[in-house]
Amino acid sequence: MTRTLISGGLVVTSAEEVEADVLVEDGKVAALALRGSDAARTWAEGDAEVIDATGHYVLPGGVDGHTHMEMPFGGTYSSDTFETGTRAAAWGGTTTIVDFAIQRPGESVRAGVDSWMAKADGRCAIDYSFHAILSDVNESSLKEMDALVDEGVTSFKLFMAYPGVFYSDDGRILRAMQRGAANGALTMMHAENGIAIDVLVEQALAEGRTDPRHHGEVRKALLESEATHRAIQLARVAGAPLYVVHVSAGEAVAELSRARDMGLNVFGETCPQYLFLTVDKLAEPGFEGAKYVCSTPLRPEEHQAHLWRALRTNDLSVVSTDHCPFCFSGQKDLGVGDFSRIPNGVPGVEHRMDLLHQAVVEGHIGRRRWIELACATPARMFGLYPRKGTIAPGADADLVVYDPDAERTLSAKTHHMNVDYSAYEGKRVRGRARTVLSRGRVIVDRDSYLGSAGDGSYVPRSTCQYLI
Ligand code: URP
Ligand code: ZN
Ligand code: ZN
Repeated sequence: MTRTLISGGLVVTSAEEVEADVLVEDGKVAALALRGSDAARTWAEGDAEVIDATGHYVLPGGVDGHTHMEMPFGGTYSSDTFETGTRAAAWGGTTTIVDFAIQRPGESVRAGVDSWMAKADGRCAIDYSFHAILSDVNESSLKEMDALVDEGVTSFKLFMAYPGVFYSDDGRILRAMQRGAANGALTMMHAENGIAIDVLVEQALAEGRTDPRHHGEVRKALLESEATHRAIQLARVAGAPLYVVHVSAGEAVAELSRARDMGLNVFGETCPQYLFLTVDKLAEPGFEGAKYVCSTPLRPEEHQAHLWRALRTNDLSVVSTDHCPFCFSGQKDLGVGDFSRIPNGVPGVEHRMDLLHQAVVEGHIGRRRWIELACATPARMFGLYPRKGTIAPGADADLVVYDPDAERTLSAKTHHMNVDYSAYEGKRVRGRARTVLSRGRVIVDRDSYLGSAGDGSYVPRSTCQYLI
């Protein structure tokens, strides 16, 4: 039996903060003991390998419920592979990702899941799971949903945006939601009115407005809130739960708040880019703004107050990254002269835990809420709790010894993501994952990566744990 003792730290979960030592046996959390207790003394005298966490937090590993490794988009692929992207996640204290397997139009959902399984198999640094993207809702893909839910793919993303690519019309969305209501699946929604956006894109290009900043102008907040409203009404008609991804507009938050006040099973996620970056980035000189092209887009600063408030009131309950990196050189520049050809997405899987800790430092959220938003709630939302997302006997020993005082500057020169720029270049943050364990094995320690490709395992999921 392998035994590790993490001693001297402040254990922080979504539920409590306690000066306790954590005993790990064979990859699982075996027990916690209060500092100075008889149990803690006995463990210290035993044969466990000791990790000293004095002056540090001991956190559950981060759960990032929204990533896109090796994702085909706009004629290219997101630049992180499952190997590089999950390694970068580990560096930042994230120990589980849920990525999106894409059903291509004309193909089965199963083919998408199989193909993503093959891409990830034997390559991941940390544990991983999959949502499925439905791009072709028809009788046979609806049937496939049932079997996939039984096998642990329990959430399905639909797009109200990107006509001709991932887009589903309201009828298809309603059918998928009805199926989800019956089989327990969670419907995830990209809520932007893509049909209206495409009209505005066409008009902008025809008038010569081709720069990256026009991406932000055509993808209007009103078209996010309209789609969010419509998704909620469709979910009500279907009697289905709904999870709205990458919420960025204050008006969309208002739609979520209204639905939640009515007691509906409607949940919302936002991402660090919407909390820390603004639409001004899209207007940076030259073509630099392309680095920040993602959908939903970055918004004017006043939207951020709505997002922070909703994170405190739980109208937004998860912070994921929507990590979808494309290199500035050779990928983002596919859109020179036509902003609509810029591959959509920003890198971030490595920085979520630290940026949210910075939010703690700046007083936006408390420490336990940090862990709730980044670990416990995504684990519950996507059927991974309590195996993931907390520190409790029987949980996987995915643990982070976190130095809350480490000061550093985020930069492409030092990050581990396979992308040639940082969306947060030059940003000072306080806090850093010092030691990261994945199922009891140390995979990151200070400046060393000690894991290897294939350490991570596929984790099938149960259904959303917020539903009765
Ligand atoms: O711009 C983004 N968000 N790219 C990734 C695909 C998506 O819609 O989540
Ligand atoms: Zn999306
Ligand atoms: Zn996404």
